[in-house]
Amino acid sequence: MKNIIITGASRGIGYQAALQLARQGHRVLVLSRNEEALRQLKAEAGENLDHLAFDLQRPDARALLEKVKPMGRVDVLINNAGLLIKLPFEELTTTDWQHMMAVNLYGPAHLAQILRPFLEKSERAHILNISSMGGYQGSSKFPGLMGYSTSKGALSIFTECLAEEWRDKNIACNCLCLGAVQTEMLAQAFPGYEAPLSSDKMGSFIAYFATEGHHFFNGKVLPAALSTP
Ligand SMILES: NC(=O)c1ccc[n+]([C@@H]2O[C@H](COP(=O)([O-])OP(=O)(O)OC[C@H]3O[C@@H](n4cnc5c(N)ncnc54)[C@H](OP(=O)(O)O)[C@@H]3O)[C@@H](O)[C@H]2O)c1
Repeated sequence: MKNIIITGASRGIGYQAALQLARQGHRVLVLSRNEEALRQLKAEAGENLDHLAFDLQRPDARALLEKVKPMGRVDVLINNAGLLIKLPFEELTTTDWQHMMAVNLYGPAHLAQILRPFLEKSERAHILNISSMGGYQGSSKFPGLMGYSTSKGALSIFTECLAEEWRDKNIACNCLCLGAVQTEMLAQAFPGYEAPLSSDKMGSFIAYFATEGHHFFNGKVLPAALSTP
């Protein structure tokens, strides 16, 4: 049984991953802003799951630590929350950039810093960052996704750097660059496109990789994609 924290669990891929991890018997703490959706998830998942309303753009370290201290240690942190603002580059404001960087890069970095003492208590901890094929070097790029893809690319490099920084702390860090998965975010980015993967299917792969992947990989940025639109 592992102690797992996952962000962006109010819907989509994060919801499914959290549900499956809790059903597997892990102790799961879920974070996102929509508390009502987290309560619904708790109702489905049962007593293994706890939740905290948490805004990555205004992270409340004290509230998080109150939830985490009783857990004692954290074995897995899944930085799954993501923000996509689709706009032509010339219309993208500094505020848009800041919001995407806050959720897609600074949030994961800040959480890793806050949680480090608890991750160090794990036999071997795993930080799993969820990036996108848009942030994978050499992949297809799409108009309107400049800020999103750039911030996800930064998350990929952050992964490689953090794995080195904390190699001697026994904290592994990997990154999955997802291809198309049928969620609200995909519908916003590519209206009408039908993804070959459901959030349920990708959620179960992430649940597996988060708990086992660090025994095989560290500092790796891996595509997990059947397709990009
Ligand atoms: N779906 C795809 O095809 C696809 C492809 C590549 C990568 N990805 C990545 O996979 C991850 C999950 O995507 P998804 O498709 O499931 O997205 P989604 O349905 O849009 O869900 C995004 C999640 O992020 C949370 N979030 C957004 N802003 C937040 C904030 N300020 N503070 C805390 N949480 C915040 C949302 O929760 P609240 O609104 O409740 O805060 C929500 O739970 C994301 O990182 C996304 O970039 C998805």
